[in-house]
Amino acid sequence: MTTVVDVDLSQYPYINKGLEGIVAFTTNKSFIDGVAGELIYGGYNINTLAENSTFEEVCFLLWEDRLPTTEELNTLKKALQENRELPENVINFIKSVNKKAEPMSVLRTAVSMLADEDENRDFKSHDVNYERSVKLTAKIPTIIAAFHRVREGHDIVAPLKTGSTSFNFLYMLNGVEPGEKAEKVFDLCLILHAEHGMNASTFTARAVCSTEADIYSAVTGAIGSLKGPLHGGANTAVMNMLLELQKQPNPDPVEFVKGKLARKEKIMGFGHRVYKTFDPRAHHLQKLAKALAEETGHVELYEWSMAILNTMKSEKNIDPNVDFFSATVYYSMGIMPDLYTAIFALSRISGWAGHFMEQMENNRLIRPKALFMLEKNKKWTAIENR
Ligand code: CMC
Repeated sequence: MTTVVDVDLSQYPYINKGLEGIVAFTTNKSFIDGVAGELIYGGYNINTLAENSTFEEVCFLLWEDRLPTTEELNTLKKALQENRELPENVINFIKSVNKKAEPMSVLRTAVSMLADEDENRDFKSHDVNYERSVKLTAKIPTIIAAFHRVREGHDIVAPLKTGSTSFNFLYMLNGVEPGEKAEKVFDLCLILHAEHGMNASTFTARAVCSTEADIYSAVTGAIGSLKGPLHGGANTAVMNMLLELQKQPNPDPVEFVKGKLARKEKIMGFGHRVYKTFDPRAHHLQKLAKALAEETGHVELYEWSMAILNTMKSEKNIDPNVDFFSATVYYSMGIMPDLYTAIFALSRISGWAGHFMEQMENNRLIRPKALFMLEKNKKWTAIENR
């Protein structure tokens, strides 16, 4: 048994579990006002971007800290289109991996493998990292779609050399070209998930690259961090929760939530470290969820979601976050629940890459401290005497 030293934690008021409220960086990427429910990317309110922008334009904004001209946007779109294909080793991996593997695990390994194809050892220059950001953003959708096709027993659909990231992803996933509306809905989802301050995966990416490790290592780490249900994994968990409710003989969302709360279980898609009000992204997703659920005959999912939302408000005064309604949106689009977190990564690569380049421009090793809680100067005991 280990002996815990009797440490008086009140002597260490600077210990901040979960690093809540700690400002560790300056950034041009995004601003969040958690009380007002405001989110800004590179100076532009998320509502403005949702209404006017495209995912590719948001990528440019997050990588260059300004909006592109038409020519610059076209150049970026072309570069993304030309970099969608996967190297052979990644395709072979996708074809051979366990079909029951989690999409996020497959994505994490495949992204890590992309480093093997990159012989450039210059990990610091902005131009080289910009090129890598384009490649990662272009290839991540192909990895996700290819794995999904293979596990479903279908042929991999080769990426198009035209069209938006959203159009191409839905095409590769389903094997048929999406309609204009589906493309627009999906693009809005990508815009809403692109960037969000010092969330756990972005912090992970910055911590990894602060050692001057390459962007592949940073993004591999970020994918691992995003996978957890307290972060990006929550969208899949929301859908699983709704499907669990659906399986009940007489589904009652209010009692369902109350039961979970009584058992001290968390309700996925609710709560946030920064927002103390409705997540501004959730407003957009709520509207989409309602419209799509009605259109596709999943209206009960939206009604249950609203009952869950009202119960969380009255029981705990906790609001929904980005993951709550996105689940219904993707489900109504016919996308399998275990892909939702990978789709989050498909968008968030833009924010991770922006933060990677920002960290490289003014890097300092990220290295906090921890308070040691055990007895010091223990006497050595030979193994046979322990
Ligand atoms: N369901 C029930 N109770 C909750 C929830 C929830 N979803 N979220 C917070 N609480 C309660 C929590 O039990 C705690 O109560 P008490 O003080 O009585 O112990 C209090 O609210 C504070 O919660 P916390 O977990 O200490 O807050 P945090 O800032 O450390 O965690 C969070 C934030 C997002 C991890 C948490 O709200 C949570 O686990 N939510 C569910 C998972 C989820 O939806 N995650 C997605 C986050 S947003 C998108 C993203 O970034 O990926």
